[in-house]
Amino acid sequence: MHSTTKRGLFLTLEGVDGAGKSTHIPFMTDFLTQRGIELIVTREPGGTELGEQLRQMLLHVPMGLKTEALLMFAVRNEHIEKVIEPALAAGKWVLCDRFTDASFAYQGGGRQLGTQRIEQLERWTHPQLQPDHTWLFDLDLAIAQERLRRSREMDRFETEHEDFFKRTQQAYHVRVQQNPQRFSVVDSSQRIAAIEHELSQQLDVLLTQ
Ligand code: TYD
Repeated sequence: MHSTTKRGLFLTLEGVDGAGKSTHIPFMTDFLTQRGIELIVTREPGGTELGEQLRQMLLHVPMGLKTEALLMFAVRNEHIEKVIEPALAAGKWVLCDRFTDASFAYQGGGRQLGTQRIEQLERWTHPQLQPDHTWLFDLDLAIAQERLRRSREMDRFETEHEDFFKRTQQAYHVRVQQNPQRFSVVDSSQRIAAIEHELSQQLDVLLTQ
């Protein structure tokens, strides 16, 4: 029997560390919930019990770059099978703090593994699934670094050098060029109210689809 449940939308947030994406999750969640959308909010690396344990290792234990990329996709595989797919199939929307674009940016660009390797892992892990919409929070790297330094103890990625973040940000911009219809690029140097206004307009468009 075919289910008549309309599949939920898969929304993701991206950006270099310090670009401020996580700040907007409560606003987006409230906005959608108030409009009657059933939503789950989740993150990568993480999102499952195993994934959250692996997140601690990914963020704090030194490892080789291939290991890092494979673990990111191991976490993602678990997350898709146990959380993302079941929610979307049940008609819920999924708001995910980072997804595969982050692997293209950080492992492909920052760590210089290249896009081909990431594409191979993407094809194996989720050949069909792509976000329906992605926000890239974009900020001058010097400001992003300054925000990070003010925040708290930094992890293995946040303590990387400037060139790493330049490559990561560049790789994000390539993703936008390759998928212009999927991305909204948000200028994160704006006031929070201005960003919220932009986000609400984009969410309204998605709600009418
Ligand atoms: P982040 O999402 O920035 O969380 P917080 O705001 O709590 O610091 O941290 C996750 C880190 O993991 C971030 O530095 C980017 C990195 N990452 C990758 O390198 N590749 C990936 O595929 C994903 C999902 C994250």
